[in-house]
Amino acid sequence: MKFEKEILCIGAGYVGGPTMAMIASKCPQYRVTVVDIIPEKIDQWNSADLPIYEPGLDKIVKQARGKNLFFSKDIGAGIKAADIVFVSVNTPTKTFGAGAGMAADLQYVEKTARQILEYSESSKIVVEKSTIPVRTAQAIKRILVSDKSDVHFEVLSNPEFLAEGTAMRDLENPDRVLIGSQETDSGLKARNELVEIYANWLPKDKIITSNIWSSELSKLVANAFLAQRISSINAVSSLCEETDADVGEVARAVGLDSRIGSKFLQASIGFGGSCFQKDLLNLVYLYRHYGLNEEADYWEGVLKINENQMDRFVKNMLRNMFNTLAGKRVCVFGLAFKANTGDTRNTPSLTVVEKLLAEQAEVAITDPKALDNAARDLKDAKGNYELISDPYEAAGGCHAIAIMTEWELYRDLDYQKIFDSMQKPAFIFDGRNIVDHDKLFEIGFNVFPIGKPKKVHF
Ligand code: UDX
Ligand code: ADP
Repeated sequence: MKFEKEILCIGAGYVGGPTMAMIASKCPQYRVTVVDIIPEKIDQWNSADLPIYEPGLDKIVKQARGKNLFFSKDIGAGIKAADIVFVSVNTPTKTFGAGAGMAADLQYVEKTARQILEYSESSKIVVEKSTIPVRTAQAIKRILVSDKSDVHFEVLSNPEFLAEGTAMRDLENPDRVLIGSQETDSGLKARNELVEIYANWLPKDKIITSNIWSSELSKLVANAFLAQRISSINAVSSLCEETDADVGEVARAVGLDSRIGSKFLQASIGFGGSCFQKDLLNLVYLYRHYGLNEEADYWEGVLKINENQMDRFVKNMLRNMFNTLAGKRVCVFGLAFKANTGDTRNTPSLTVVEKLLAEQAEVAITDPKALDNAARDLKDAKGNYELISDPYEAAGGCHAIAIMTEWELYRDLDYQKIFDSMQKPAFIFDGRNIVDHDKLFEIGFNVFPIGKPKKVHF
């Protein structure tokens, strides 16, 4: 069968994999190929055991794979065949040199641009999908200057707004798709080609267009606003713990104001994931670059509150467990940065685990999907920890449980059975406010929610 379009995605990660699976499933007339520099990752995408856990992903990959969705190790051949190339490689925060800890590390993006230039024999549209700092498109464009007169590259920005755990739903029915381009004839033509791809399953009014810089900046700003809401409600939670107010009741009352809205007001241990911290740091770096230091400080405050929330959590454990955790066994429920993913990038749970280990606690970590990543994350950790898949086994013999991830599973455990197997007095610190605190208190636990009065038996 001859396909209408050849689409390539470079980078088979949390963004590239699900996004391409959705395009392939909605557009059988296009051939979609996903490549990656890690060959084992491609093998996993071609197996029954996909490299990432995302509800609904297995089903659509299995339906489309081998028909119009292909995972391949041959990056050069993929580039040669492609009309449109999506770039969704990783853009972590720099760990070295100028801007370390702040700026994005663009080495993978740059290498990808050079590969595209090297292998291209025809003109292509290059779409930046990775989260990147503003003005990256321009950098890609500068690299993609070809000496072959019949090869022209048009660079578009198409930021990804999917959230892990709900990626398939977000891709199928997004609030909006944003496409930025240069406002030249060829830029507008390329923009329209990408609009047509999404129009296969989305109404046109959900596909918005802008200039390329607005598109790049919008992604950073959207994530900064979302992170800011979480830090705002988390900043309220500490006050609630001191005053007998209940952060859930406050969030409900505040969120019912339609100007504010109810989403992203769930007080928690803090936000994690691959985007919020990185994007805030990018934004702060950009402000400082332009000498806008007041504004940089403002956004940096969102990150400070987030770090403070984790610090506060462990200090609260310490204070209430008689000022020592040394030698005590603490069970951590959840290492993933949120429910329904195995992703542990920037997970607050890991920060809490490290702080507990620094207090010389023995830590038993359980999680339904993230233990493989946890093993990798903790391989250099100093201290006494165990990874245990069964939550009952993990909690057995512990002095305290710390709930870190809002997995549905943890709501409905048999807490009487768990209580009976624990050391007494038994403590539960609910970093997600997901369990029934009254019921747990009745069973005999000393209960410490986020932003609500504690319930203690002594
Ligand atoms: C986020 C954005 O939502 C998405 O649009 C963007 O493309 C990538 O970054 P993601 O990081 O996958 O997505 O997850 P998200 O649902 O936004 O949660 C981020 C963190 O905030 C998680 O650790 C979550 O537990 C926490 N969170 C979220 C809260 O603590 N409280 C809330 O009310 C909401
Ligand atoms: P994201 O959450 O943005 O999708 P991931 O780290 O999950 O980030 O995925 C990015 C993927 O890009 C990784 O699998 C990585 O191996 C891949 N990658 C990085 N650089 C290149 C490159 N030059 N060519 C192909 N793949 C690359």
